[in-house]
Amino acid sequence: MFTSLPGFREFYPEECAVQNYIFDKWRQLALRFGFQEWNAPVLESLELFTEKSGEEIVQQLFNFEDKGGRKVTLRPEMTPSLARLVAARANAIRRPVKWFAIGENYRYEKQQRGRLRAFYQFNADILGEASPAADAEIIALCAEALRAFGLETQDFRVRLSDRTLWFLFLESLGIPEQTAVPLLSVVDKLERLPPEDLLKAAASALAGTACDAGQVIESVRAFVAFDSLDKLEAFFASRSDTLGGKIRERLGEWRALLNILGAMGLANFLSLDLTIVRGLAYYTGFVFEVFERSGDGRALAGGGRYDALVKKLGGPDMPAVGFGMGDVTLANLLKDKGLFPVYSAAVDFYAIVLAPECRPIALADVAALRHSGMRVEYSFKDGKFGKLIQAAEQAGARHVLIYGPDEVAAGVVKIRNTQTRTEQLVPRTSLMEQLCAIKSTPT
Ligand code: HAM
Repeated sequence: MFTSLPGFREFYPEECAVQNYIFDKWRQLALRFGFQEWNAPVLESLELFTEKSGEEIVQQLFNFEDKGGRKVTLRPEMTPSLARLVAARANAIRRPVKWFAIGENYRYEKQQRGRLRAFYQFNADILGEASPAADAEIIALCAEALRAFGLETQDFRVRLSDRTLWFLFLESLGIPEQTAVPLLSVVDKLERLPPEDLLKAAASALAGTACDAGQVIESVRAFVAFDSLDKLEAFFASRSDTLGGKIRERLGEWRALLNILGAMGLANFLSLDLTIVRGLAYYTGFVFEVFERSGDGRALAGGGRYDALVKKLGGPDMPAVGFGMGDVTLANLLKDKGLFPVYSAAVDFYAIVLAPECRPIALADVAALRHSGMRVEYSFKDGKFGKLIQAAEQAGARHVLIYGPDEVAAGVVKIRNTQTRTEQLVPRTSLMEQLCAIKSTPT
């Protein structure tokens, strides 16, 4: 027997229903926030990602050479494709661009809980707006996209951080900009690497500078211990040089961001967490990741500002901010919390046909009911009443429409309630009206 590849899921109807439930909520919410849907090919040129996404993703690519000798890859994420689409029509699209997408991505990762090789992501991005208002709108949509499923402050946290502030802080330690980027990759592993490996990684990132790796790690640990804006403001308040001024200006943008999110009633969902620096190479400003409140499990979502990417892909200077939310970790969490609705494949009505001469009448009614929007099944074979009723009950129908020779001759349909086992005869001329009334009656 063939099986699917490791890290790839198959979707039986129950699983498809779960997925559609998630996608429908994401889509409805994005539309409510005024975002428009877009999409792009899942197979892209390799270069789009080797250039733009950074080391970590490049190691995880599903890449190969196609029959035309092109170096291609399944997309590991959607952001570079989005930047390309926007870059190509930058002058024609209304700004700010507010776009969302739901699509499958592929990463050759080790399969584990919350991590697969093929997963779906809900992406939402705003391009063409540099102010913290856009960052706030993105963070608000991200938080609301979880609240839409009934998840609340006891369930998740948006951990906020800032690469701009990191660059300024590292500058204050005398670390030049070109060294700051590799050093942030080390910060990304601060909580994962054993101390000696961390020291080695920091020393390698700092090679060619006069900085001492041990001291830098100590300063970094002190910096990530700040867990509120008040504490950061107090720490940098006395610094009177130009860099101090720049840092205070940046903290003013933090204040603006938090004020907007506070006004939207989202303050309790946020925490300041400077250990978040994001693995992807293109982020430039505010960054964030969303985790379960307990801190367990892989990230539910991640995103941030990436102001240089559109220009790098041949477009104009265009600020951008967005996030991606995965379906795997979200589905795990919803399952754990019992927040999925009960799956039901039930049809509204099931018609059974007791004799061949009744079939044309039954089929005409089935077709009319389906046209009116009802979910209707019918028995493909004529047969014994008991067997057919059993099939109807297995299909989950609460009401069965019975077409026997007596009913057809009298111009009526027998409607049987499968729960109460009561039956009534309804003239075919008023069948639609009766079934509409039955359907709208609560169980
Ligand atoms: P990311 O942090 O790489 O960001 O992925 C975002 C989310 O996708 C993760 O938090 C996780 O829920 C899900 N995810 C990632 N990898 C896997 C995997 N192997 N299996 C299951 N789920 C996974 C990005 O992809 C950015 N492009 C997001 C973005 C959009 N930034 C700006 N706009």
